[in-house]
Amino acid sequence: DADLRLTRIASSIRVIPDFPKPGIKFQDITTLLLQPKVFRDTIDLFVARYKDKGISVVAGVEARGFIFGPPIALAIGAKFVPMRKPNKLPGKVISEEYSLEYGTDRMEMHVGAVEPGEKALVIDDLIATGGTLCAAMNLLEKVGAAVVECACVIELPELNGRKRLGDKPLFVLVKAA
Ligand code: PRP
Repeated sequence: DADLRLTRIASSIRVIPDFPKPGIKFQDITTLLLQPKVFRDTIDLFVARYKDKGISVVAGVEARGFIFGPPIALAIGAKFVPMRKPNKLPGKVISEEYSLEYGTDRMEMHVGAVEPGEKALVIDDLIATGGTLCAAMNLLEKVGAAVVECACVIELPELNGRKRLGDKPLFVLVKAA
């Protein structure tokens, strides 16, 4: 049953205090990946939600969206598109700047990877402030795709990332305490 699966997913995520900085409680999904049944349940829950929705693009955010995105894409028959840190993609890119706690970062996507009118799902491991998912959605919308939803394994509700996404739907499996 879904509730039991969600409980197992939540308890498989290791919390590491003061990483990468003092005061941050890092949500470490690598321990989820060590349990094949829990990893499978995680993917299956997303696949159950997104199959038969006409989604042709799964966009995964570097780095941990590259872990969860591809198995979902394969299972729903969509292409996988990596959304990368600056200067990693070799072809022509479009990019989107977004703000961090200190300074800005940039996300890039290959031109031609997504066509106007495609329906896209954005995947990452975690939403904190929501800045990363917003940048990913902006890139997809710039090329004329429609973002159906953003999906993450974990939400940090205290940081109000959901609000930053505005009217864009967000689906998460577990909320961090
Ligand atoms: C983390 C996480 C998300 C992002 C969420 O990535 O995996 O991608 O932060 O934060 P936000 O909602 O405040 O934008 P991180 O910055 O650790 O980069 P990495 O995945 O490349 O290690």
